[in-house]
Amino acid sequence: MLRYLTAGESHGKALLAIIEGLPAGIKLDGSEINILLERRQGGYGRGGRMSIEKDEVEFISGLRSSYTLGSPLGLLIKNRDWENWQTAMDPLDPVIDMSKRVARPRPGHADLPGGIKYGHKDMRNILERASARETAARVAVGAVAKELLKALGIRVQGHVFRIGGIEADSPPKIYDEKIYDNPFYCSDPRVRDQMKLVVDTVKSSNDSIGGTIRVVAEGVPPGLGSHVHWDRRLDGRLAQAVMSIPGIKAVEFGMGLRSSIEPGSHIHDGISYSKEKGYYRERNNAGGLEGGITNGEPLVIRAAMKAIPTMIMPLQSVDIDTKEKMYAIVERSDICAVPAASIVGEAMVCWVLAEAVMEKFGGDRLEEIVENYHNYLQHVKEF
Ligand SMILES: Cc1cc2nc3c(=O)[nH]c(=O)nc-3n(C[C@H](O)[C@H](O)[C@H](O)COP(=O)(O)O)c2cc1C
Repeated sequence: MLRYLTAGESHGKALLAIIEGLPAGIKLDGSEINILLERRQGGYGRGGRMSIEKDEVEFISGLRSSYTLGSPLGLLIKNRDWENWQTAMDPLDPVIDMSKRVARPRPGHADLPGGIKYGHKDMRNILERASARETAARVAVGAVAKELLKALGIRVQGHVFRIGGIEADSPPKIYDEKIYDNPFYCSDPRVRDQMKLVVDTVKSSNDSIGGTIRVVAEGVPPGLGSHVHWDRRLDGRLAQAVMSIPGIKAVEFGMGLRSSIEPGSHIHDGISYSKEKGYYRERNNAGGLEGGITNGEPLVIRAAMKAIPTMIMPLQSVDIDTKEKMYAIVERSDICAVPAASIVGEAMVCWVLAEAVMEKFGGDRLEEIVENYHNYLQHVKEF
């Protein structure tokens, strides 16, 4: 079984991740992880924090001479901002700098519900872990999963589909590395100027904006996931993983919501067969999944991210000491984090696909998994 845990507070010393269940023999040198960490930090609309951090992964365990050993892989990403926060975040010092205390919770954040739940009258104790800084650890984990998928020819890429009401018109396409030449991570050049205008406009009025990301996976074989039980359906598992990204409020597969509006004849993808391709579809409205099982078409997942909830123009809140109406605290914040979220979405999809691959073709060595995979592809061909 493949599993991972992350730990770390936003302004603590570092983020940690442990991946358990990886096969031996995956080549990692850190560069593939660092590229994705840098992309997560980038994108148009990010706030000041990202110019302080320069995320880089350090391998702590599970790797020798650049190859995974099969033992737990320990990853560490230092927080450069820690220097500025030591007096407020020290794990041992009994005297804490209380100027950073959070007593006016931010709407749209875990501050108040988390404070009530854990009994923290300083809601910084909630904010620090609920912060999307944690997604840097997930991106590192996803980058490792991506290397496992690559060995089977499965390629995954996240990009921006919409910012505010400005929507890309390009068909889902992956491995368009040019996407990262622009700070919107959007493959449609015609809408980038409009996206910039939207972000600049909300910024000038101290507001924020959300959007939609799209993650596409190609080279996915039919047969990952299962129809037999609710928690084995791959659509459900992918939706949970993508929905768990802070700020994501809706997840769609293929045609998604529109498939509840249009008639069946417009929606369902007829089945075709040719000797070269095997079974295939002329179109992919299902987004690569039927009955919770991959069908061999590319996976196409969209996820909507709400507008950033920490705003310079603060929202109404209550001081939990006096119970008086007050403005929520203002932390340094992004205006728009949709491009960054597309990289996190990619990581989460890589993770769930890697889990499904290990369940179906699992082995202790990468070569063993690749061999099992090729045997299975032969079965698919003969079916
Ligand atoms: C990459 C990324 C960056 C984010 N940056 C911020 C930010 O700077 N300020 C903020 O208030 N929320 C930010 N968010 C969103 C919040 O973390 C999120 O809305 C909050 O934790 C509440 O979770 P929920 O919206 O899922 O309920 C970011 C999310 C992601 C994925």
